[in-house]
Amino acid sequence: MKGSFIKSIKVLTIFLIGVIMNNEQANAQDYVFKKFKPPVDYKTAVKRASEILSKMTLEEKISLIGGERSFYIKGFDKYKIPELYLSDATQGVHIRKEINTGLPKSTAMPCPSALTATWNIKLAHDYAKAVGEECRAGGIAVLLGPGMNIYRISQNGRNFEYFGEDPFLASRVIENYVVGMQSTGTMATLKHFLLNNTEYYRRKSNSIVDERTIHEIYTPAFKAGIDAGAMCVMTSYNQINGEWAAESKYVITDLLRKYLGFRGLVMSDWWSTWDPEKSIKSGLDLEMPGEPGNHKDLFEKIGDIFVKKNAARLIKEGKVSENDINRMAKNIIRTSIEMGIYDRTVKDESYLNKFSDHESVALNTAREAIVLLRNENNILPIQPDGKKKILLTGEFTETIAQGGGSAKVDGYNFVTMSDAFKNIYGTQVDYVKNPTEEQLKKADVVLLSIGTLDSEGHDKDFNLPNETEELVLTTAAKNKNVVVVVSTGGGVKMTNWNNKVAGILYAWYAGQNGNTALAEIVSGKVNPSGKLPITIEKKFEDSPGADYVPAGEKIYSNWVDDMQPDIPIRNVKYNEGILVGYRWYDTKNIEPLYHFGFGLSYTKFEYSNLKVDTKTFKKGEKLNVTFDVKNAGSSSGKEIAQLYIKDVESSVHRPEKELKGFTKISLEPGETKTIKMKLSGNDFSFWDVKKKEWKIEPGNFVIMVGSSSNDIRSSIIIEAK
Ligand code: BGC
Repeated sequence: MKGSFIKSIKVLTIFLIGVIMNNEQANAQDYVFKKFKPPVDYKTAVKRASEILSKMTLEEKISLIGGERSFYIKGFDKYKIPELYLSDATQGVHIRKEINTGLPKSTAMPCPSALTATWNIKLAHDYAKAVGEECRAGGIAVLLGPGMNIYRISQNGRNFEYFGEDPFLASRVIENYVVGMQSTGTMATLKHFLLNNTEYYRRKSNSIVDERTIHEIYTPAFKAGIDAGAMCVMTSYNQINGEWAAESKYVITDLLRKYLGFRGLVMSDWWSTWDPEKSIKSGLDLEMPGEPGNHKDLFEKIGDIFVKKNAARLIKEGKVSENDINRMAKNIIRTSIEMGIYDRTVKDESYLNKFSDHESVALNTAREAIVLLRNENNILPIQPDGKKKILLTGEFTETIAQGGGSAKVDGYNFVTMSDAFKNIYGTQVDYVKNPTEEQLKKADVVLLSIGTLDSEGHDKDFNLPNETEELVLTTAAKNKNVVVVVSTGGGVKMTNWNNKVAGILYAWYAGQNGNTALAEIVSGKVNPSGKLPITIEKKFEDSPGADYVPAGEKIYSNWVDDMQPDIPIRNVKYNEGILVGYRWYDTKNIEPLYHFGFGLSYTKFEYSNLKVDTKTFKKGEKLNVTFDVKNAGSSSGKEIAQLYIKDVESSVHRPEKELKGFTKISLEPGETKTIKMKLSGNDFSFWDVKKKEWKIEPGNFVIMVGSSSNDIRSSIIIEAK
């Protein structure tokens, strides 16, 4: 693919030296990303925190650095320090029955992988703002999200909670999420730092990864969240190159604080520290939940590992100092002061009046998240004009598919798929639970719902269950006009039936209003505009990291069981290095079933006039790229225009292409818009492991623009000197 394409491209030479990074290329819409500014400035917060700290006894400080009652940080009336409640998660407030916050309900938003499929950064902001407002209504000071581990393997049970496979796309969505969340006064927590890319023995796995890959693939989204102003970070369960993340000085002090510049509160994931001395010295501030909770029996076997319980002894033995404890307590107090949390009440019930706004955000997100993957002979849209008879059947027609675990949100006002279609189509649609052969044959179109119920705590098979596979194949054998609706968190295997069905709509977990959005798309009321934030492989063996589960072992592991002391540590070798997602498939010449960035529309878009503005490119300058996108079809629609870069000559191996810009635009039929994107130094650079810095090498680079990672419409070569 690449050889012929490079020959055919228009050549333009530019002298490129190297400039600073900027994120403006993602923001070609009216909405503009603006970094979060905490209400209390850092210096003032440090001063106030020092004053409080000077009055606290050692015992009091120690009681602050480990959580209590599973989800709280201790409060002290005498210092006017409120108790803080921390709650999950990225896609909405997980209401826990045992904790009464007074929050009557919370909105089930589409899952984060769905949010990412919108490629709409304003939606990311509004979505997080809605979740943040519900936190305020429930007195939640810290939201335990966004979860943001890169999609490395399709089988990760938590992919639905994360932001896809590409560091650039994830970064742009996350920075806007952080700002939206924190604009409400709720602190965001970037989690899980770092390399927790599978649920397979997540508490007993050791991610073995090289330094360049850490910097190019796994930290950029955290960096974007930190630069946007995120106040908290949660470490992960796994080991990183042999050290537990929550007690690793390399991970917390060197990588997170020094390199990425994070100065807020670092907490552990729940029960993930093993050595209290190491944890204290690593740079961690808060051990969560800090006590055995419901797992007393287990901790009798594991031993007394809690920071809070061991800190005084460790000081006495001279292994840690009171200053270490001061640092931890001070970071917790200072971060809360910066956020204004000691100056106002956390709970603000006026936000209870905003639920209808939140429902609208959930609906708008679903409308832009659902991806049309296949539409043979324009089977969709189906006009609600009473003509074509639709038969609706399948797995999630009367129940809602959602992700499980700590991220689960119960939601309210759910619209089932059968109701959503009846609302639009009336008697034109028949919902039949177990259709007969005759009913299937008679229908003009069969809408077939399938999916998986993914969850934290265990991975899931990329292959669909046999019954589901059967269901699609037998249905497709009876009717040539089957449209499959897939509700899931990440990629699933569709290879055996992809060509046998007329349409595929990838619906993710689309939240409480997701089915309304789905029916609007099927009827043409809404033109689909989502694009895949992941690559969907033909078979699991094609994917990077496919050997992460040793041959013959089941992918299921239980999250409590895998804390048992006798379970060995398992090495997960990230042998593919930087070749994650499309970087892998492109470079290895493996054709996936669906490419990263792909999604169909009911209209079509043409690209033209690709230009760059300068031939000399000096340090500190930006390179402006412009091109035109035209709606060449007959319905209005939204296009996600994507910009990729390839380094043609390099001393190190570079991917075939890397996303460095995108924008989502609305176009009326016949309308053309000029897209402007800016590129700067880091967009062209790689992580130089010798010098420990980003480096741009002289030579040619290709700038490509197009509609997906595999649908490049135009390109230009530039040269760095
Ligand atoms: C999860 C975290 C979550 C925490 C608290 C852990 O099991 O990994 O993502 O925030 O529980 O519920």
